[in-house]
Amino acid sequence: MDKDQLPRHIAIIMDGNGRWAKARGLSRPQGHLEGVKRVEEIIRTASDMGIGFLTIYAFSTENWSRPQDEVGMIMRTFIMVLGQKANELGKKGVRINFLGRRQGVPQEVLKAMDDAARLTMNNKGMTLNIAFNYGARAEIIDAIKSITSQVAAGKIKSDDIDEKLISAHLYTKDQPDPDLLIRTSGEERISNFLLWQLSYAELYFTDKCWPEFNEEEFLKALNSYAQRERRWGGVKV
Ligand code: IPE
Ligand code: IPE
Ligand code: MG
Repeated sequence: MDKDQLPRHIAIIMDGNGRWAKARGLSRPQGHLEGVKRVEEIIRTASDMGIGFLTIYAFSTENWSRPQDEVGMIMRTFIMVLGQKANELGKKGVRINFLGRRQGVPQEVLKAMDDAARLTMNNKGMTLNIAFNYGARAEIIDAIKSITSQVAAGKIKSDDIDEKLISAHLYTKDQPDPDLLIRTSGEERISNFLLWQLSYAELYFTDKCWPEFNEEEFLKALNSYAQRERRWGGVKV
């Protein structure tokens, strides 16, 4: 594939672990464990292809409303996988970064996140954003609070507020917006993901559930992207 036809930043809503498991007579936790394998596969593939930024939606601010045992299982799995894989990803040059609110995340999860971020902070390869306890509306609220407090302190004037300034106050500051959004499992919605940053992203939906989304499926999404004509509100030149 032509390098300049590759997205610089790919965002993924990894959905359908539960339905994948149910369809096979397995439990939802088994679906999540199979999903973890695809996460590893897609991170490896994206990093090997030279993708600059990969953002994966791992846990939303709304996902706390799930049954307590499922939430607990996701937290334990997250701690375990971060502990086991951060080192390996670090060796590939991947820099692990987290998007989301820290408030409300259990201490031991925060520790695993901080360890993984610290271990990989000086890496120069792909940036892996893991959206955890992430909600786009919460992100926008946090940005507004931060901007208004700077206005109140006289550090900036309200006239200075523009798109660049707002982007600089989001969790994704200093990063390009996603070029491509992938959502698995047949659902065609955004579910409170990167509302600001996705303004001009190309959208790719597939009926495959996340545990089925292997390297081959990922390449199909990239092929689809390579055929898109992006216009940014202009006309084709
Ligand atoms: C995605 O799969 C994983 C998370 C949201 C953590 P789901 O758990 O949402 O699976 P479905 O949508 O119920 O099939
Ligand atoms: C979106 O999936 C969140 C993650 C993938 C972490 P959900 O399964 O939570 O979204 P809805 O409920 O189908 O919109
Ligand atoms: Mg779901």
